[in-house]
Amino acid sequence: MSNQPFETRFARLRSEMLAFLADRERHAPEHQSETIHTVAAEIDQARLPEVRPEPRRLGGHRHLEAALAMAKGGPMETLAAAFAEIEPDLRWIRTEHYRENLGDAYMENYCYTNILGYEGLIEHDRVIATFFIIGPGRHYPRHHHEAEEIYFPFGGDTLWSQDDETPRLRAAGEAVHNTSWLPHAMTTQKTPLFTFCLWHSPGPIKLAQLTG
Ligand SMILES: [Fe+2]
Repeated sequence: MSNQPFETRFARLRSEMLAFLADRERHAPEHQSETIHTVAAEIDQARLPEVRPEPRRLGGHRHLEAALAMAKGGPMETLAAAFAEIEPDLRWIRTEHYRENLGDAYMENYCYTNILGYEGLIEHDRVIATFFIIGPGRHYPRHHHEAEEIYFPFGGDTLWSQDDETPRLRAAGEAVHNTSWLPHAMTTQKTPLFTFCLWHSPGPIKLAQLTG
């Protein structure tokens, strides 16, 4: 399948992202559905650049196979399959300013690839649509950012925390909505964390900061 033209595989991924988000938007509370609607509209209108970013894999990519496997049989299975077909041609990145606090081992076990957003397949300065991986047994400490954020986990046993609430599991496809500046953290257990994630920033996107 991945020998199909990039444009064909991108069209499939776009339609899977839009179908998934349309379904989530219908079931979401108002504030959350606004964010989903805004990002979906940008995905719908996005045009591929003439020159795509150079494909690149990072250490965290080794968890992708297990990540894709855990999406099987869940509500995001077809989105994961469309992503798997295009992923070899995408550029994986990581937030480099985390290295000082989180260390080399963390940096080698996580990565993400922006379909829309900074250093993304399609550049965007207000909206991000990304696929994000963290390997098992890792802690992504409390952090926050101005942008509204919604994670949709593909499956797995990650513990998600928001503000001072007790960390808890989230079902595959269940939205984890981090409103502007809400501190949040994730702890992976036996499975990787694998999530489709949206950001909507009121101004030019600023990277997440750890809150200590
Ligand atoms: Fe976040």
